[in-house]
Amino acid sequence: MVDFALSKREQELFDTAMEFSKKWIVPYARELEEADEFPWGLAQKAYDAGLMNSHVPKKYGGPEHSMVEEALIGEAIGYGDGGIATTILANNLALTPLLLTATPEQMEKYIKPFATGKKPQFAAFSLTEREAGSDAAAVKTTATKDGDEWIINGRKCFSTNGHVAKYHTVFTTVDPTKGYKGMALHMIERELPGVKIVMLEDKLGQRASFQAEIEYKDVRIPGDCLFGEIGKGFKYAMQTLDRTRAAIAALGVGIAQRAVHEAAIFANYRKQFGKPIGAYQGINFMIAEMEARAMHARWATRYSAWLVDQGQRNTKESSCAKFFATDAAMQNTIDCIQIMGGYGYSKEYPAEQMMRGAKLTQIYEGTNQIQRWVAGQAVLKEVQVTELDTGFRLSFPGNDYPDPWGPREGDVPDFWGKGKSKNKQ
Ligand code: CAA
Repeated sequence: MVDFALSKREQELFDTAMEFSKKWIVPYARELEEADEFPWGLAQKAYDAGLMNSHVPKKYGGPEHSMVEEALIGEAIGYGDGGIATTILANNLALTPLLLTATPEQMEKYIKPFATGKKPQFAAFSLTEREAGSDAAAVKTTATKDGDEWIINGRKCFSTNGHVAKYHTVFTTVDPTKGYKGMALHMIERELPGVKIVMLEDKLGQRASFQAEIEYKDVRIPGDCLFGEIGKGFKYAMQTLDRTRAAIAALGVGIAQRAVHEAAIFANYRKQFGKPIGAYQGINFMIAEMEARAMHARWATRYSAWLVDQGQRNTKESSCAKFFATDAAMQNTIDCIQIMGGYGYSKEYPAEQMMRGAKLTQIYEGTNQIQRWVAGQAVLKEVQVTELDTGFRLSFPGNDYPDPWGPREGDVPDFWGKGKSKNKQ
């Protein structure tokens, strides 16, 4: 049975997150964006409301949300503001590779305080380097074993919350000549000697979120700050992104839906030529298409999250959801501005901030071109089945091309009532 309804727990969580968004984010989004300060107070409220650190298990004091539940929170907070959503929810990204790999001792020592402290504590996902962006396997930050400890050298960039985080989740290499097979996962305490926040990005949008460039110079970390196995760092990064791309898709859904609502409110209210502009087909059709984008993005997103909860791999689905939902967010915010005309372009209304925020969702956690590449590769692999190839060969486009009509057994059935005809040879 297909069931699109949310469970009671899911609905309550979504309502709580939406209420939070409408009460604490929507009315203050402009101030939060222009303050150029880390929103500690808002983070405290989100932490107290149980909206952070979704996947920390109950055993370690966390909410142990499912992936669908994380998507519901992402949609609601994204509805409020993309930048705030990135700030509040970035712990989910940074903690996921640790949660995938931590031993019970590491969980107790390093993860538990994220969920049990009085104040919110941040972690920052540090994969990207200046020369290793889309090509994530090209990282050059080295980890060298020295007795029981590790020494880290290198530089990471675009690390969300990197300047305030207690720990950085750093993808390193123990041997750059080995490519992705040399990669490892280390956790680095920000306040250790040798860790330097080089700068914070000055961005077009999502200005209530902060991305740091970080230098690690002979940073000495304890042996138990290696998570998982050496050589598997790249896979941990990819397994993390499979999950968190569904979460970014959710953020896109929230932005896309908010754009529909802002446009529809304006179209109902704004009168020109004696009628609300929504009464004109040109506007009405735009709003319908915006709603369709948000709706399709939502179900693609929830499905890709649900696969994770079923223990299934969702690489293709999360990439599809990510590019579709964040493209929807971009297009819907552009359309929202168009419908609102000069008011949409003006800072008097939130539409332009929403559009600047949407742009980043098409870029981070893998550009939408990378998502298309991942999804396209997955589809091409899926159809490399030989079942269709029954041995019948065409001379074009090649002798190994599978039978384009698929397998058939025996004679052609008597479709025409004229007695059996022979199968093709
Ligand atoms: N799950 C498990 N294993 C996977 C995997 C997955 N999803 N994807 C790849 N792998 C495995 C492959 O099976 C392969 O292993 P084997 O050799 O054992 O078979 C290995 O990893 C290498 O895979 P590929 O050859 O496909 O790797 P690639 O080098 O061609 O790169 C890529 C693949 C998809 C392009 C990857 O580099 C990628 O995702 N790039 C984008 C990086 C990215 O998203 N960065 C965002 C950083 S986070 C951020 O932006 C946050 C912020 O806070 C601002």
